[in-house]
Amino acid sequence: MLSERLTTSQTDEGRYRLLVEAVTDYAIYMLDSTGVVTSWNPGARRFKGYEAAEIIGEHFSRFYTPEDRAVGMPQTALDIATCEGKFEGEGWRVRKDGTHFWAHVVIDPIRDPEGELVGFAKITRDLTERRQVEESLRRSEEQFRLLVQSVTDYAIYMLDVNGNISSWNQGAQRIKGYLPDEVIGRHFSTFYTEADRQHGEPERALQTAIREGRFEREGLRVRKDGSVFNAHVIIDPIRDANGEVVGFAKVTRDITERIKNQHDLEQAREALFQSQKMDAIGQLTGGVAHDFNNLLMAILGSLELAKKRIPDDPQVTRLLDNAIQGAQRGSILTQRMLSFARRQSLEPKRIDLPVLMGNLLELLQSSIGANVRIETDLPRSLPPIIADENQLELALLNLTVNARDASAEGAVIRIEASDQALKSDNPIGLPAGRYVRVSVTDQGEGMDAETLARATEPFFTTKGVGKGTGLGLSMVHGMAEQIGGRFVLKSSPGQGTSGEIWIPAAAANAAVLTEEAAPADHGPAPSLKVLAVDDDGLVLFNTLAMLEDLGHVALEARSGTEALDILEKNAVDLVITDQAMPQMSGMQLIAAIKERWPNLPVILATGYAELPAGAIQGMPKLAKPFSETDLASTITKLFA
Ligand SMILES: Nc1ncnc2c1ncn2[C@@H]1O[C@H](COP(=O)(O)OP(=O)(O)OP(=O)(O)O)[C@@H](O)[C@H]1O
Ligand SMILES: [Mg+2]
Repeated sequence: MLSERLTTSQTDEGRYRLLVEAVTDYAIYMLDSTGVVTSWNPGARRFKGYEAAEIIGEHFSRFYTPEDRAVGMPQTALDIATCEGKFEGEGWRVRKDGTHFWAHVVIDPIRDPEGELVGFAKITRDLTERRQVEESLRRSEEQFRLLVQSVTDYAIYMLDVNGNISSWNQGAQRIKGYLPDEVIGRHFSTFYTEADRQHGEPERALQTAIREGRFEREGLRVRKDGSVFNAHVIIDPIRDANGEVVGFAKVTRDITERIKNQHDLEQAREALFQSQKMDAIGQLTGGVAHDFNNLLMAILGSLELAKKRIPDDPQVTRLLDNAIQGAQRGSILTQRMLSFARRQSLEPKRIDLPVLMGNLLELLQSSIGANVRIETDLPRSLPPIIADENQLELALLNLTVNARDASAEGAVIRIEASDQALKSDNPIGLPAGRYVRVSVTDQGEGMDAETLARATEPFFTTKGVGKGTGLGLSMVHGMAEQIGGRFVLKSSPGQGTSGEIWIPAAAANAAVLTEEAAPADHGPAPSLKVLAVDDDGLVLFNTLAMLEDLGHVALEARSGTEALDILEKNAVDLVITDQAMPQMSGMQLIAAIKERWPNLPVILATGYAELPAGAIQGMPKLAKPFSETDLASTITKLFA
């Protein structure tokens, strides 16, 4: 054996044989001219599984799959090798155990010196593993491509080194509006706003990505249709194996929605803050106004009585008149404050707005003077509304005076009304339903945002000390809220102002509230025994004085319990009670009286409107502060 190897290794042929026999990574074997296997090396044994003895003498077609054999592949391979001097190909081959492997095959013809074909040399390599790696790489690339392609929430695309677009996914198409054909090859600066382009933003973004390894920013981008959206953008550079930048990966997200939500949230917070602020101011104002109302009532009442009782001295009368006027002005102020605090006592009734305006217009025009003209547009077809007539008139007067104050000479103020149907979730924030919107619009100086935000706050005024009370719009706001409507103020500097009062329309088939008959003059009332109930001594004193001045006999009680006690022991014709009292309220007292003395008339005196609506209707009432005349006419009405 050893000597044989030695001799073979010394000849060329022998050396080749040794070489071939040492190769295990390649199957190297020979076929005769018909394709029968004539030699076999260890590599062939390793991949195909046959021992040399088993296979030598067999036709090589057994290495092919039945399908390939059926179409004559083995012979074709030999024919090609014969004709063209070489056959090379890849394909599935079959091992002895029937398993398949992916083979790279080279077949060379072997010719004798005369050129006669004597057989074939065949070299086969097992590429199964390489093919598997390639296949899985291809598959993962394909999957990745599909993944990127089908992402719709993000625009994911690539740029070449110069910033030209080289790929485009569905998200990009959805967010930016371009089809792949329209955009591939274009420069990505197309998506920037003109201003950003001018400032060199696109180039800066790529440079930042190269320098810092990533560019991340939020900004405005432009869609195909020209619309602008808020984008969150990331740009990563793509480098080759040598670290050279070969392009960029770009991921863009449309965050318009997120920004809008944020904005909405801020607005809702601001609105809540505003309404809480107004509520807090309302509480304070209402409390102050209530106490002042009582004080003014005492002052006014006493002044009126004093005026009656002192001899006719013009000097003193003038002073008293002056004091009365001052107190009356104060009383108007407290009324407005009560309005703002939604504590004004209202007489809501059905109102036909065009009729109301028809009667009011002359007063409005004369209050603002001749320099500014009022124009109205009030469709006849407006539905009737439910509101307090006096308060609504006062609100319109306040708005018109404000409009006049803001207007130049010769300007026009427009008062318009329209029928409005609101759905739920409307921007006005009112419940769904039918409303009448009355607006007073001027073309005057308007308000900046800060003034506009504060205009309805009580005591906010820009008109200077002694000129404006800052209670005009507060009153309008409170009145609108109290009748279930809303006051909306719109203004911008130089563009004028529009104040809108939204008032609920009366339900189509609602029973018409009984219009209060105008108080008829029934002459002086008979002398009555009247019980006055009030926890405030000052007010009580005043009421008693007025009653006595009117010729009645007055009894007094400081609380509901005391009143009931007195009623037990005295025959009384009439009770006048305050509403806001500790322990037993006026309403509670009235209920107790109705139980025991159902026919005893009671007048409720109140500066509040917080009574159940049903209780107000038809119940004799006196709005605080009341004058002696008010008291007299209410009593007269009851006993007429
Ligand atoms: N039509 C308007 N145009 C411009 N600014 C206005 C207009 N209406 C109101 N304002 C601004 O809102 C502020 C508050 O108005 P509001 O009616 O509550 O009080 P006022 O007019 O200042 O005082 P008052 O009504 O007691 O005379 C005004 O001082 C003014 O700055
Ligand atoms: Mg005003």
